[in-house]
Amino acid sequence: MSLKVIVVLLAGFLAWAYLAFCPPPPRLCGSIGGPAIEGPRIKLRDGRHLAYKEHGVPIERANYKIIYVHGFGSSKHEAAIARSELVEKMGIHLVSFDRPGYGESDPDPKRTIKSTALDIEELGDKLGLGPKFYVIGSSMGGQLVWGCLKYISHRLAGAALIVPVVNYWWPSFPSSLSTEAYYQQFPQDQWALRVAHHAPTMVYWWNTQKWFPPSSVISGKANFTAPDLRILSKYGSSMGIRDYAKQQGAYESLHRDLMVSFGKWEFDPMSLDNPFVGGEGSVHLWHGVEDGLVPVALQRYIAKKLPWVQYHELSNAGHLFVHDDTSAKDAVLKSLLTGDK
Ligand SMILES: *[C@@H]1O[C@H](CO)[C@@H](O)[C@H](O)[C@H]1NC(C)=O
Repeated sequence: MSLKVIVVLLAGFLAWAYLAFCPPPPRLCGSIGGPAIEGPRIKLRDGRHLAYKEHGVPIERANYKIIYVHGFGSSKHEAAIARSELVEKMGIHLVSFDRPGYGESDPDPKRTIKSTALDIEELGDKLGLGPKFYVIGSSMGGQLVWGCLKYISHRLAGAALIVPVVNYWWPSFPSSLSTEAYYQQFPQDQWALRVAHHAPTMVYWWNTQKWFPPSSVISGKANFTAPDLRILSKYGSSMGIRDYAKQQGAYESLHRDLMVSFGKWEFDPMSLDNPFVGGEGSVHLWHGVEDGLVPVALQRYIAKKLPWVQYHELSNAGHLFVHDDTSAKDAVLKSLLTGDK
């Protein structure tokens, strides 16, 4: 082969690799050709906008103020918990928001666990939730509540983590336990997490290429167990990855979530201290025994390591229980807001 041919082939390969690895720029909300801005937004410290949605009683009448953090592939419209009867009865004002890159919130290419906690704090300030408010998060949103306990605990009245996603690389896990759980996942998920953890620059390519199966959650083939399948059939496709959530593109929403959630963390939740030593608030962790996405064995280990976290385990519940089960929703709210067991 002549040098010329080699140079041409190499240039061709680099051009292909560049296109395959580089995500397209996000379709910003409000930009020409981008999605419209329909709901209210606040402007954050670095100029980004955060879209939010208010539920429950008006803020002026509220006894309790809560910020709700949504899961993977979802948006501010995921706030089934706000449909509990207790919301009116107890006087709850609940704010959900599109996490950066989702829905109508600007992407944050520098997004971390910490930056999300600071976004939540700023949202509380801009909406006048007062010096202290509650946070509730579900799934990947539940995992982000660990960040609130680490970085903005002085602003919290209490916290509930519902089926929070675990990071298999948190150092406090005995490696036998986390390794065993890791290899119980589908091989395609082991690979998706490996790429997210070890080679984040390849995340876009990995989750868009056609040679190997991508993350089962992204491809809609997640390991949902019987209780979850019942909920999914009841609500149909409205429960899945909604178009609204990723309307600005999958990279700064879904793919960024994988990098943040399964990347290297600045802290290990299992080494957090109790933020409420005087009992002025409480922290609750909810998990279902039939959760096929987040292994219950790891959640039990976390609960054992953190005796100040009140652990609630539901026997016939999967990963999606809070989207349906009325009594579970009420129990989450009651235990968090009144300390009732
Ligand atoms: C699916 O979920 C069940 C129930 O939690 C679990 O026993 C099993 O290991 C999971 N399978 C995969 C491939 O994640």
